[in-house]
Amino acid sequence: MATTILGIESSCDETAAAVLVDGKLHANIIYQQTEHKKHGGVIPEVASRSHINRIVNVVNKALTKANIDKKQLDAVAYTQGPGLLGSLMVGSSFAKSISYSLNIPVIPVNHMQAHLLVHFIDDGFKKPEFPFLGLNISGGHTQLVKVNTFFDFEIIGQTLDDAVGEAYDKIGKMFGLEYPAGPIIDKFSSKGNRVFNFTKPKVKGLDFSFSGLKTNVLYFLRKEQEKNKNFIRENIFDLCCSCQTTINEILIEKLEKAINLTSLNNVVLGGGVSANKGLRKDLNGLNAKVFLPKISYATDNAAMIALVGFLKYKNGFFGSLTDEPIANMKI
Ligand code: KG4
Ligand code: ZN
Repeated sequence: MATTILGIESSCDETAAAVLVDGKLHANIIYQQTEHKKHGGVIPEVASRSHINRIVNVVNKALTKANIDKKQLDAVAYTQGPGLLGSLMVGSSFAKSISYSLNIPVIPVNHMQAHLLVHFIDDGFKKPEFPFLGLNISGGHTQLVKVNTFFDFEIIGQTLDDAVGEAYDKIGKMFGLEYPAGPIIDKFSSKGNRVFNFTKPKVKGLDFSFSGLKTNVLYFLRKEQEKNKNFIRENIFDLCCSCQTTINEILIEKLEKAINLTSLNNVVLGGGVSANKGLRKDLNGLNAKVFLPKISYATDNAAMIALVGFLKYKNGFFGSLTDEPIANMKI
């Protein structure tokens, strides 16, 4: 008998549902909320309301696309955390009501673990070998993780302030770009050159820092705009390329250090920033076997939630109707 899992993701500003049958993806529906574009960041209250409006439709679409009747589901997995509490509550309550009405197990999933384990979807590609080095780079997290098994994660380095995606989005806001700015900076970078030099932080060990770069860019823009008020508009491509190159160097330098310190040579990328084209190119120079997620698995999605749900189902790790969402859940 096939094992069919419905995954639900609602931790931030994507409402997503996926259907996984025996580890193979049959549907992956993502609704990216557009309400936040003009605000330069996600407004939590708006995000929760948007999840409520979309979730029924998104789940129905996933079941229809997979050609699955809800009675065929063996379990429902959902993002328990980390994320925005109000957003998490929508997905978790919806998953629990499906579990209750269909009398099937409900499985809580850690979003950050899912970003790294999405590589194990049965898609015919070679899989990372345990233990491996994970680099999670998203809007809320920047963390180096030693992954020993599917269920054993150890943080060996993390940001001391802003996450790398947050830095992209805040710097983009200074440039006058819409949220999320990461993909726009990525696109503009390819049209520019590294003309401006921004300082890289000096952080010990395997930790990261991105707030200094953000301040550096802010003061630089203020100074240049005093001389030329059109400075950003006239130099947007070079500004994007200069910032992106600096960020990518910070990430690659830490990865190299982590590879040397741990002797792990399977490196697995996860999170929205791993979609960055410049970074993907630079990773080729690493002395390790690098696993990059498909773009649709890099940014937030429910396929990764369904996959961890499947792994937990196989190992008998179930949740209960009284589990609560955990906004600051650790990996
Ligand atoms: O993993 P994700 O979808 O959501 C979180 O869990 O936070 O990551 C979203 C972040 C945003 O900050 C967005 O600007 C960034 O990923 N991002 C990118 C790219 N695509 C998304 N950053 C740089 N280059 C990209 N191509
Ligand atoms: Zn994420």
